[in-house]
Amino acid sequence: MGLLDGKRILVSGVLTDASIGFAVAKLAQEEGATVVLTGFGRLSLVERIAKRLPEQAPVLELDVQNTDHLDTLAARVGEHVDGLDGVVHSIGFAPQSAMGGNFLNTSWEDVATALQVSTYSYKSLAVACLPLMKEGGAVVGLDFDASKAWPVYDWMGVAKAGLESCNRYLARDLGKQNIRVNLVAAGPLRTMAAKSIPGFREFEDSWPEKAPLGWDLGDTGPTARACVALLSDWFPATTGEIVHVDGGVHAIGG
Ligand SMILES: NC(=O)c1ccc[n+]([C@@H]2O[C@H](COP(=O)([O-])OP(=O)(O)OC[C@H]3O[C@@H](n4cnc5c(N)ncnc54)[C@H](O)[C@@H]3O)[C@@H](O)[C@H]2O)c1
Repeated sequence: MGLLDGKRILVSGVLTDASIGFAVAKLAQEEGATVVLTGFGRLSLVERIAKRLPEQAPVLELDVQNTDHLDTLAARVGEHVDGLDGVVHSIGFAPQSAMGGNFLNTSWEDVATALQVSTYSYKSLAVACLPLMKEGGAVVGLDFDASKAWPVYDWMGVAKAGLESCNRYLARDLGKQNIRVNLVAAGPLRTMAAKSIPGFREFEDSWPEKAPLGWDLGDTGPTARACVALLSDWFPATTGEIVHVDGGVHAIGG
């Protein structure tokens, strides 16, 4: 029996087969779920990646900055599944000027883009899916520990701090419908989003050394497992939580 048998899960943020979203979609299918994907921009690329899943999943267009896309999302998802038991938010973006050591000079326009795509969209996606969400359902988002100021992460770090707060407010408001809302704070992984961070190497070099359990920057598996566990029925009383999947780095000083 799979952990997600019979569940219908919407997974956003699949761009390449290195995407965290891809690993979550793959494991969710392996655990018995029916998966629908959303993609942004190069949809033909996302469709090609979707074919690499154990079962090819439909791909719907979603730009979280486009209100039409959000307003029509539930109806479009409803053409493939008759309800949703889970939604995965695996979306992040900040313009180059917002990362890499330019913190004091980033314009509001660039900060606003980072916050809309990486923070506000967590709420937008959850609300867009509400008409289809079943009681006992789960929303899961991808975080990078925002409790400290990191080298080079800059406004993306501020966006993640907002995401962590958004997670708590969503948990407050969706709890009434028995919908759980949780984040997985992953350690650094070599994805497209990571490659676009100027100076990402700083994390690459230090993380595996600092982590009590060690850390493999090429393995999205542990992060996907935590997402699937949170989507399952095995965390029925957990919401507004942040689960760290980082080899233990968040717990270590120095
Ligand atoms: N890679 C890491 O080191 C790491 C660590 C912790 C958390 N995360 C988070 O994981 C999530 C997924 O990132 P990833 O590392 O898998 O990289 P990725 O580049 O594979 O995924 C990022 C996704 O965001 C999507 N996106 C960007 N702008 C969008 C928009 N306007 N509308 C809809 N989608 C949009 C991209 O199309 C892409 O699919 C992000 O929230 C990221 O911050 C990543």
